[in-house]
Amino acid sequence: MKQLFESIVSLAKRKGFVFPSSEIYGGLSSAWDYGPLGAQLKQNIQQHWWKTMTRHHEDIVGIDSSILMHPRVWEASGHTENFIDIMVEDTITHERYRYDHLSEEQRAKNISPKGNPLSEKKPFNLMFETAIGAMKDTAQKLYLRPETAQGIYVNFRNVLNTSRKKLPFGIAQVGKAFRNEIVTKSFIFRTCEFEQMEMQYFVTPGSDDEWFQYWKKQRTEYYKTLGIRTSHLQLHPHGENELAHYAKEAVDIQYNFPFGWQELEGIHNRGQFDLKQHTSYSGVDLQYFDQEKNEKYTPVIVETSVGLTRLVLMVLCDSYDEEELENETRVVLRMHPVIAPVKLAVFPLVKKDGLREKAHAVFKQMSDEFSTEFDVSGAIGRRYRRQDEIGTPYCVTIDYQSLKDNSVTIRFRDSMKQRRIRIEEIADVIRASDKAYVRMGESQ
Ligand code: GAP
Repeated sequence: MKQLFESIVSLAKRKGFVFPSSEIYGGLSSAWDYGPLGAQLKQNIQQHWWKTMTRHHEDIVGIDSSILMHPRVWEASGHTENFIDIMVEDTITHERYRYDHLSEEQRAKNISPKGNPLSEKKPFNLMFETAIGAMKDTAQKLYLRPETAQGIYVNFRNVLNTSRKKLPFGIAQVGKAFRNEIVTKSFIFRTCEFEQMEMQYFVTPGSDDEWFQYWKKQRTEYYKTLGIRTSHLQLHPHGENELAHYAKEAVDIQYNFPFGWQELEGIHNRGQFDLKQHTSYSGVDLQYFDQEKNEKYTPVIVETSVGLTRLVLMVLCDSYDEEELENETRVVLRMHPVIAPVKLAVFPLVKKDGLREKAHAVFKQMSDEFSTEFDVSGAIGRRYRRQDEIGTPYCVTIDYQSLKDNSVTIRFRDSMKQRRIRIEEIADVIRASDKAYVRMGESQ
């Protein structure tokens, strides 16, 4: 499994999905940059999530709130007081650990994973501090938001007044979040700067248990429609001592990463905590007036929250496959075509006799609708392999026959099967194949 993860990380770096941040200065641990393929993959996943949440749910709208917020927000939300991890240090190696990440035995014996005595437990607030204003003595202390959710709660009234939504309804948002994690690890799995895709669903008190079950099911189904192997997904309900300070009930959707089962997404019943806190700290009434019942109450919030960057890692892990062919091992990313960073690659069989020009014209035509690559170098077989490695679902080859009758060969990534179609049919074939996509190798 360690070797598998190393292969995935190596491919991600080699092919331009992810680079270490500020690499020419030696890199910055726990921050990563997304290269041409990674940026496109991230954007595709984000768009897919956004479409699923907003366009497929007429009762959900989207917003984009700022990273910097009034410092009172974090007092009201409980983050200044409670967003704390307990840190311990190995007294010999000085390595730091999150206390809750140690095994029961290590905690009972007060030893580190290396077997050395541990230091005293120290509380550690995960919020990054910054300041606004030119003068140090008058500057106002601010925080980089550790979750995007609070930007939604403080806009609850604005959205309600402008969108004329009635309960139940949701607000979705995608954006950066920052946490000063004690230990960052496993490539882009846990980082200090990351992106979240969060949706806050506001419901009538008393209906929250039902909505919690609804969102648990919806979000699990979401991963199945994205072609993620169901054998690699499981639900983990939070026990009493695992619950975040705001949560009444919580369940994690976990994914079986090469380094073990880990949280991918959290679904939380946050009760009335956040809106009541903001009402009390801001003095602005965030209750909802229910016209039918002719009464005012504070809605209950059911939240779905997933790390976009963590989802990128999950997609890379889930899609990575090494397939034994007759004379070689084929590395292929079997990801769903709707999120593949390159949807279509166009090749001329050879560079001469007008094939290059014809292929380039097809590439230009397709680029408007699909993320398309044009590749002229190397044997066709090698060009297919290059596209397999980055998950390109469709390759089109222009050959001498194409000059005569405008037909091309389209080749499918997973089955490696080829079909002869007309140039005018390419877009339709791609759209239909995207819709009909079924992940191969579910049993893996
Ligand atoms: N608003 C609720 C909230 O933030 P969370 O369980 O702390 O809940 C939600 O975080 C999701 O954000 C996680 O399931 C994970 O996917 C992602 N996430 C949290 N911390 C992260 C980190 N340090 N690096 C990458 N992703 C992270």
